[in-house]
Amino acid sequence: MDKILIEIRDLTKVYKKGKETVYALREVSLDIIEGEYLSIMGPSGSGKSTLFNMVGALDIPSGGHVSVAGIRISELSSRKLAYFRGNHIGYVFQSYNLIYAYSALENVALPLIFSGMDHESAREQAKATLESVGLGHRITHRPDELSGGQQQRVAIARALANKPAIILADEPTANLDLQTGEDIINLLRDLCKERGVTVISATHDHKMLSVSDRILWIKDGRVDKIQSAKEADVHVGSIE
Ligand SMILES: Nc1ncnc2c1ncn2[C@@H]1O[C@H](COP(=O)(O)OP(=O)(O)O)[C@@H](O)[C@H]1O
Ligand SMILES: [Mg+2]
Repeated sequence: MDKILIEIRDLTKVYKKGKETVYALREVSLDIIEGEYLSIMGPSGSGKSTLFNMVGALDIPSGGHVSVAGIRISELSSRKLAYFRGNHIGYVFQSYNLIYAYSALENVALPLIFSGMDHESAREQAKATLESVGLGHRITHRPDELSGGQQQRVAIARALANKPAIILADEPTANLDLQTGEDIINLLRDLCKERGVTVISATHDHKMLSVSDRILWIKDGRVDKIQSAKEADVHVGSIE
């Protein structure tokens, strides 16, 4: 039986900018299944990052709620929220967000140390995680000594190091060339299929379609449609 891991109900986000009111999300409802690869597709400004931030507990909804494993994340205390972010979710961003003064190993070990692990164990776990994403030979390199694709692998290793149940990726391939982008997408797919990590990725990279189990298309902050990968292939084929 498919198990629902994340329940999104009537999720609304309103931004007020002076007199202007922007509805970034309007009553979005969706169930995300444990172990699936879900892509959130839509044009720029459609609300993908806003949805990403709400699911990742990085921002607070104006209405509705997100529950993860039955827990409403907006009702958690700040201490529990910090634990939730640090232990259950791994975040991957378009711009990698690595610390440039630190080596790949230190970048991956740091959040482990923050979450209470001793230095030696953190370094060991960081090394093993970097090896698992194919970067075992680059652990002492700093980000400026790595290619974009390698930097994104470090960021993915950092997201994975705490063994989170969920990886949230916001446009993870946007700064990468075609081939490197594909490698990163395949890595995310392997994490999903081989380790059972639930992957949720906001993107407008159509290479992501074929590896996704489902695609959520959003338009002007609303759910436009939800498709299986098979349906999406037909759709893309017919418009291109
Ligand atoms: N902090 C903010 N303040 C005001 N408006 C915002 C803010 N963040 C996003 N928006 C607006 O919300 C809408 C959705 O943005 P976003 O979720 O970033 O879209 P996407 O990630 O799909 O490009 C856009 O119209 C954007 O301008
Ligand atoms: Mg965005």
